[in-house]
Formats: sequence, C-alpha cells, structure tokens
Amino acid sequence: MPRFRSLAFCGAFLFLALAAKCARAENGSEAWLRYAPLDQQAAQKYSALPASVVVLGDSPVLDSAKAELIRGIRGMLGRTLRDNKSLPQEKAIILGTLSTLQSAALQISGSAPLREDGFLLSSQQVHGFDCLIVTATNDRGVLYGVFALLSKIARNENVSALHETQQPSAPIRWADEWDNLDGRIERGYAGPSIFFENGSIRADLTRAGEYARLLASIGINGCAINNVNANPRVLEDSFLPQLARVADVFRPWGVQLSISVDFSSPKVIGGLDTFDPADPRVAEWWSKKVDEIYRQIPDFAGFVVKADSEGRLGPATYGRTPADAANVIARALAPHHGIVFYRAFDYNHHLDWRNPKNDRARAAYDIFHPLDGKFDDNVIVQIKYGPIDFQVREPASPLFSGLEKTNEAIELQVTQEYTGQQRHLCFLPPMWKETLDFDMHAGEHPTPVKDIVAGKTFHRPLGGFVAVVNVGMDTNWLAHPLAMANLYGFGRLAWNPDLSSKEIAEEWTRLSFGNNPLVARTITQILLESWPIYESYTGPLGAGTLTDILGSHYGPGVESSERNGWGQWHRADHEGIGMDRTAATGTGYIDQYRPPVAKMYESLTTTPDDLLLFFHHVPYTYVLHSGKTVIQHIYDSHYAGAQAAANLVQQWESLKGHVDDERYADVLNRLEYQAGHAIVWRDAVCTWFFHISGIPDQQGRVGHYPGRIEAEAMQLQGYVPFDVVPPEDASGGKAIECAAPAQKCSAAFSFDGAAGWYELDVEYFDQNNGKSKFRVLIGDQAVDEWVADDNLPATKSNGDSSTRRRITELALRPGDKISIEGVPDGEERAAVDYIEIHPSPK
Ligand code: GCU
Repeated sequence: MPRFRSLAFCGAFLFLALAAKCARAENGSEAWLRYAPLDQQAAQKYSALPASVVVLGDSPVLDSAKAELIRGIRGMLGRTLRDNKSLPQEKAIILGTLSTLQSAALQISGSAPLREDGFLLSSQQVHGFDCLIVTATNDRGVLYGVFALLSKIARNENVSALHETQQPSAPIRWADEWDNLDGRIERGYAGPSIFFENGSIRADLTRAGEYARLLASIGINGCAINNVNANPRVLEDSFLPQLARVADVFRPWGVQLSISVDFSSPKVIGGLDTFDPADPRVAEWWSKKVDEIYRQIPDFAGFVVKADSEGRLGPATYGRTPADAANVIARALAPHHGIVFYRAFDYNHHLDWRNPKNDRARAAYDIFHPLDGKFDDNVIVQIKYGPIDFQVREPASPLFSGLEKTNEAIELQVTQEYTGQQRHLCFLPPMWKETLDFDMHAGEHPTPVKDIVAGKTFHRPLGGFVAVVNVGMDTNWLAHPLAMANLYGFGRLAWNPDLSSKEIAEEWTRLSFGNNPLVARTITQILLESWPIYESYTGPLGAGTLTDILGSHYGPGVESSERNGWGQWHRADHEGIGMDRTAATGTGYIDQYRPPVAKMYESLTTTPDDLLLFFHHVPYTYVLHSGKTVIQHIYDSHYAGAQAAANLVQQWESLKGHVDDERYADVLNRLEYQAGHAIVWRDAVCTWFFHISGIPDQQGRVGHYPGRIEAEAMQLQGYVPFDVVPPEDASGGKAIECAAPAQKCSAAFSFDGAAGWYELDVEYFDQNNGKSKFRVLIGDQAVDEWVADDNLPATKSNGDSSTRRRITELALRPGDKISIEGVPDGEERAAVDYIEIHPSPK
C-alpha cells in the first residue's frame, strides 16, 4: 500500500476510535458552555424547534448571539440552523432588540417592561409560523437571552410555549482580576494572567476573548483586568493601545473594559509635582487622560481605585477625603458616562495591637459614613462583604446600611484566597447568600444587603455586584474543576440574588457534567456541603480563618494574626478568645449597625454561635446555644470537619464511570489531598488551643493519635530531627529532614500490630523550591514511590506544605520493618512528619 494511503487509513481508524472512546475529552476549558450532545430521548423534546435563525439588526454583540445559538444547537442537537437574512416563510428563532422588532412590524405580546440587559423569550406566531423570539432593550440583552435559551436546552427544560422575562437585579455585575503586568496574579491560583505577559498585554488574546464569552453567559457586563495594587504604567500613553486590544476582544460579548489605577499617577507618570485631588492641575491631568482613553476605547467602563490602604498612596497624603479623590476622577469620566469604583477597603495596617479599643473592622464605616452624600453619582463605593477581609465567615459590613446617598457595590471573592485556594473545595454561594440575605434593618421594610447594593432600598441610580475572580492560563480557568461553580454562582447571584444555592449548584452541575440524576444529585450535594466543612476545620465561631495571615493565607497559622498591626486579631489567650466589639465594654464596632442589628449582636444571648467570637471575648468554658463549651466546640468541629472532608472523597468515588475520566481523576486527587490537609488543620488548631487553654478534649482525641509513629522517633540514617515553625503545624512540633548535603536518607521502625491488611499514611512536606523523591519499603520490598512536586505556597516545612501520601491495602505482619527513604532536591530536604497505620477499611 502506498505510504499516504496507509496514513490515511490509520488516520480514519484513529478518528473513529477516538470518536467512540472520547467523543468528549473533557478538560474544563468549555466550563458550563459545553453544549454536549443530548441523548436521543432528551433531544426528541426539541424536535419542533425552528430550523432557522434570523437576526434583526447588526452589531458585534448580535453576531455573537447568532453564532452562539448556531454553535449551541449544533453541539447539543446536532442540527445546523439556517442563517436567514430576513424574516423567512418558515418557523424561525428571531433575535433582535425591541426597537428593531418594531421596525420590522413585529408585535410582542404582553411583555413586562424590560430593563437594560433584561430579556424576553417568547414563543409566538409570526406571519403564521410558530417562532421563538429572543428580544431585549439592548443587544447585550439579546445575547443574554440566547445564553439562557441554550442553558435551558442543555438542562433539558421545556422551551416550547415560552413566555419568560428575566431581568438583572442590578446594573453593575462585574469581575475584577488582580493581574500584574508581569503576568503574575495577586491571589491567583490557576496559572499566569490571560491578559498580561512580561510587562505588556499578551500578543495572543484568544483566552481573554473566551473569558469574555464565559462572563457574558452569566450576565457579567464589566471587567477590570489589573491588580487593585495598580502599576501606574497602565495609564501611560504607550500602554493605551494595548488596552484597546483587550477591549476589542471583550466588545463582541458586551463586556466593558475597566482598569485599576494608582491614585498617585498624576505625579508618578504624569510629571506633576502633586496628586492632590484639590489641585486643578491634577483634575486637568485626569480629564485629559480620560479623554485620551475614550478616543481609543469608546466603550471604556471606568476605573477601580484602591487608595490609602495597605501601602497604597491616596488622598490622605494631602489631608483630603476619599470623596475628594473619587470625585476628581469621576468628573473626568462623567462626560463619557464612565464610572469609578472607589474601594472601601481602606484601613491602617499599623494599628497598635496593645490598645483593646483599636479595631480594624471599624475602618470602612468610620471613614466612609461621614462622607455619605458627598460622592458624585457616577461613583460606586465598593464594599467587601464583611468588615475584615474575605474570611470564611464574617458578619455583613455595617457600611451597607451606613450609606444612603451613595451608590454601593458588594465585593465578593471567587478566587479562594482565604478559603482553600482552589486546592480545597469551597462552594461559596451559600456564604455569599448569608450576607446578601441579611436584613440590615435600614428601613421600615426588610432591607437585605442584596437590595441595598442593587440600589433598590435607597433609590440609587447605580450599584451591584463585583467579584474578584483571578482566572488564569490553566486550561480549566480556576485549577480545581469544581471551583468554576463559584464563578458561575457569582454571575447567577448578581443577576438574581433570590436564587437558592441549591438551584445554582444544580444548574451548574447539569451544565458542566450533564443530566445524569446521580451525577447531578451527588455533585450538588458535595458543593453544598463544602463551605460548612471548610469552615469547621479552619476558623470556628467567627474567629476568622485562623490561617497564616502574614504570608500564604493558606495553611493553619493560629497565632499569626496576633500582636501585629494588621488587626485580624482573635485575641485568644489562656483564659478565652474573641474580639470584644460591644458598645458596652469593647471597641464599639457593633454600634455601627442599625439599632435592631446592634441590639442583637450586643447581647451574648442573641448573638448567633457562628459569629460569637467576632463580637465577644468569652472564656473557653462559655456555653454556646448548642450546649457545648467554646473549647469543646473547637475540638469537635475540627474533628467533624476533617471527617466530613474524608467523606467527600467517598461521595466523589460513587461517580466513577459516570463522569469523564479526566475530571473524575483530577477532582479525586484534589479531594484526597484536601482530606489529608484537613487533618493538618485539625491537628494544628486543636493542639494550639489545647496548649493555650490547658483544657483537655472531653473525647480524648486531641494529642492522642492512634497508629501514628512520629518520624523523629524512628531509626534515622542521614535524617535529623528539627523544630517546625509554628510547632503546632507538625505532630509533636517536630519533623525530620535530610541533613544537607545528604544524597539519600532513611527512617525506619518495626511494625508491632497484628497481621492483616492496612493503609499507611505518610505525612511529608512538599515545598515549592525542590522536588524530593520518596520511597516506602516493607523489608526490602519497595511498595510505593513518588516525587514531591506539587506547587503548594510554601518554601518551608510547615502547615502549608504538609501533605499526605496514602498507600492502601498493605499486608503487614508483626516485626515487619517499615522504612521511608528520602532524596532531597533543591531547597527541599525530603522532610517527614509521621507515618500513621490504620486497618484497611472493610
Ligand atoms: C487582601 C489581599 C491583598 C489585596 C487586598 C485588597 O488583603 O490579601 O492581596 O490586595 O485584599 O483587597 O486590596
């Protein structure tokens, strides 16, 4: 056979084989827009769907809407819609704004008045044919309507007799990205920036365009692409054409570009000797700069400003206020309809911790409340959901009810800075909803945060929802295959904060994994359990995440928040724990709430248990509403949380064969890691509180670890013991590491249990500055080996790097010699904390 024929034959064979085996190789890149083929029965439901599409009107956004519709229908139903240029003499899906429909003499029956970006899906007769109309007041609304229609089909919902209006709850629905110009992302956990590289905008913006499509599909209409700790260079004239390229790839998806700016820019890059907002030269500089931006990006959205906070310069330099600062920029933007997000995350990080009246939580309200009414109408004050900083549980920021004459937006965080950094699963909509649904008692009727930020309560012209997302170049955008549920959930809640977490979780699961009821049920359940689980093994009773706040914000670091100026204090001492924020004896923070809320939090009896330590300092023996003491709650919740994390692994395992192999394996890996790290958390937090309180665990678990053999108690060759910092991050406070410059080290012990099948957990340290090798032997036989090559946020052996390797189904007999060998690499010394041996589960 001639060579080319044999290649062609092979190619065809390979194609068929691949098509059969992995018709859908899933790598997460398509997120919830997979448009996977529906099974025959489900597809049958849509047999009456029109075979053609007509777009009335002409714009890049409408082009996207049409292309998306064709793409989605082809993917799910295998049919290619005919692209008609005018109203056809057949059934059609008709896309267009209300005004273009009107010009085409199409009457839309009985629709509610549509707001900007809202849409109507309506089945009705046009020229005697059954048509499906997707319409809105603007092009973007039409695009959103198409995404909604495709989502219904993907989830097998009925689309036959549709007459459905959907309206966004608020005009502002934005994503913020904290990307640096060098391509790194502050608090990003999914690879480098999709926007920047080596100090410039990326040459290839394909991913940025794909991201805009994802954002549009959940109704997000704006995106600020650079770090709030902004590099002034983004405003240099030479940089603007680069920004224009990003706006170009955003535009077809109705996503408006924004950037974060450094408030000192007029001085740093503008050549002025000041950035005082009251100086007319500064106002003129902003005005000229903004005019230039709009010349190049006519639909530019505006700026995000972080000032006078965490080392950023701001108006305080000149004794001016945030209102002075926001307004000078807002006035430059106003003629172009641009807006300013001025962040309320404005606090002094050099607070004197010795003063019990000092309280970082007070800062936003203390600074912004007196300025209410002083901000221009195109300024939005952007407020983090809680008064501290994205902790695993915080009360709603009192500033939400502290501004009546000022636009507001709530700032949420999709990137899991304090909630496990996408290595732990933590589905956040249930947490966000606690804040969004919280009644601030700012009026006669209920005034939940979601209504205040949407501008409904105080009749504000602008307002809404912002999330810090930090997607990266990782194929699946956020690294953990289940983490995208948070981005999806954010978009859905920004659109409709009345959706339940369960509805959101289920929608996302069906779109991302298909409609198999077992899969939909199990993943929905796992998602909904994940935040309470994460909370229970990290930060209890509102004390904060108890993580290392001075560094990674990842692993346990109970004491790191104390005795420094950052103000994330929980004030744990030998007697008790919690911040006294009462008006009576504490910092007075509670008085920033409206009286009914303040009254609830001021009293110990009416403060909910899960926020107790945020508001009150109590002895460890204080009895909660649950009937437990605080200290016993800390122990119990950490043990229950670690157990629940282990159960997540089993729940996921029930999906083997029901979801694609790629994502199955990836999630399994991550959940197993999480289950191990939850034990690190459990042990660190419980040990720390046991030592400081001196109160034993009623159940005798803390400090007693059945089956655990400390590495420092083994026979060591080449390994030496060392003290781990902080000590509670390692079992017994110590671990072993290879003495530099060892080639290979080993630690051994003799098994003294009964003969049987066992699983063996090796707790070792996986730093990101080396790739040590490990090998476990029973007698002479190697039973497992691996390389410690994970990229955890740690250059030292501590609670960030502590990792579990589980070896299952090992046959052990009394007297067996078990040894672990380590080969160090780079700065990493193949450190080991302990080995734990348990009978294999039945
Ligand atoms: C957190 C985060 C910082 C970030 C800051 C902010 O403190 O750790 O990296 O800059 O929030 O929101 O501005």
